[in-house]
Amino acid sequence: MSMTIIVTGGAGFIGGNFVHYLLKKYPDYRIVCVDCLTYAGNMETLAPVMQNSNFRFVKVDITDRENIFKLFEEEHPNMVVNFAAESHVDRSIENPGVFLNTNIMGTQTLLDACRKFGIDRYHQVSTDEVYGDLPLDRPDLFFTETTSLHTSSPYSASKAGADLLVQAYNRTFKVPTTISRCSNNYGPYHFPEKLIPLMIANALNDKPLPVYGEGINVRDWLYVEDHCAAIDLILHKGLVGEVYNVGGHNEMRNIDIVKLILKHLDKPESLITYVKDRAGHDMRYAIDPTKIHNELGWLPATKFADGIQKTIQWYLDNRGWWEHIVNGEYQNYYTKMYGKK
Ligand code: NAD
Ligand code: TYD
Repeated sequence: MSMTIIVTGGAGFIGGNFVHYLLKKYPDYRIVCVDCLTYAGNMETLAPVMQNSNFRFVKVDITDRENIFKLFEEEHPNMVVNFAAESHVDRSIENPGVFLNTNIMGTQTLLDACRKFGIDRYHQVSTDEVYGDLPLDRPDLFFTETTSLHTSSPYSASKAGADLLVQAYNRTFKVPTTISRCSNNYGPYHFPEKLIPLMIANALNDKPLPVYGEGINVRDWLYVEDHCAAIDLILHKGLVGEVYNVGGHNEMRNIDIVKLILKHLDKPESLITYVKDRAGHDMRYAIDPTKIHNELGWLPATKFADGIQKTIQWYLDNRGWWEHIVNGEYQNYYTKMYGKK
């Protein structure tokens, strides 16, 4: 069956990978990407699909009610997958307002459009960060879908607010929604302000690798394509009103990831520089993916050892993509954020 899917935030990291994934897997689907191209949006990520006749790119802000409604009227989408967000914790500490605006008010605008024009599915791409963090000395604890929301940063608070709004629109207005809460992703097209691409880019440029605090915080890493496959399954087989946790039981300490990257690139550990810790820094994230595994049969396909190898190779093969970023306006961000650490 052919259908039209609006993918918001498709010029960003995961949304971009999802656009590529959908166009490859469903050649008869129409994919409409909505993105306002903030600093994190990059048309170079979408360049390989711009000529595809089943793909349309629309530059609109998800908080722009008039133009979002106009787009729904034109496209009559069957589904909406909302990736568009301000996504970086450190930026949310500097400037929370834009996070509340995009992540909460933008979600509301999309939900209102779904309510008005009718939809088969609205999917909210959320994060494990809405559950807060787990202590390092309790490796037996994991986030399940019933773990209470307990946020630490303005970013995670805004994502939790959006999740609650999605659930309210499902219950009150019967908008057919689903939510996925995924752990940290890595892979191609990852903006180099986040841990893994930042460390790869700095190592390749022989620049210091800034590790926050002692580097012992733990994240649960998932290759981005496995996240795309999980969302695809939820869209086609997931139950309306449900929340699905997505993660592949791959917990690693930051410092171990950084050392692994240096080893792969044959660069010295002397590049590691311990810097001032992030305020409110979450200690450990760990997803229990039992529900999506048992109910939808999802399992991650990519082992970390292979995923990190592929990712590093992608950054080596696509220097232009990230060099345009790190040599541009990003330099001001880097000096501002890391200059004072
Ligand atoms: P990203 O920052 O790389 O991309 C975000 C995209 O959204 C950009 O293209 C940006 O231009 C666009 N955008 C931002 N504000 C917008 C607005 N107001 N209107 C329209 N477009 C706007 O983010 P990402 O890492 O790809 O994350 C995508 C989603 O997945 C986010 O909702 C994030 O919370 C969630 N998530 C991310 C991770 C991760 O590890 N990166 C893990 C779990 C969940
Ligand atoms: P990040 O990629 O920002 O993702 P999140 O905070 O949303 O999990 O950071 C991942 C981990 O890496 C987190 O514990 C903070 C740490 N980190 C550093 O040590 N140095 C850095 O320069 C960055 C960006 C992150």
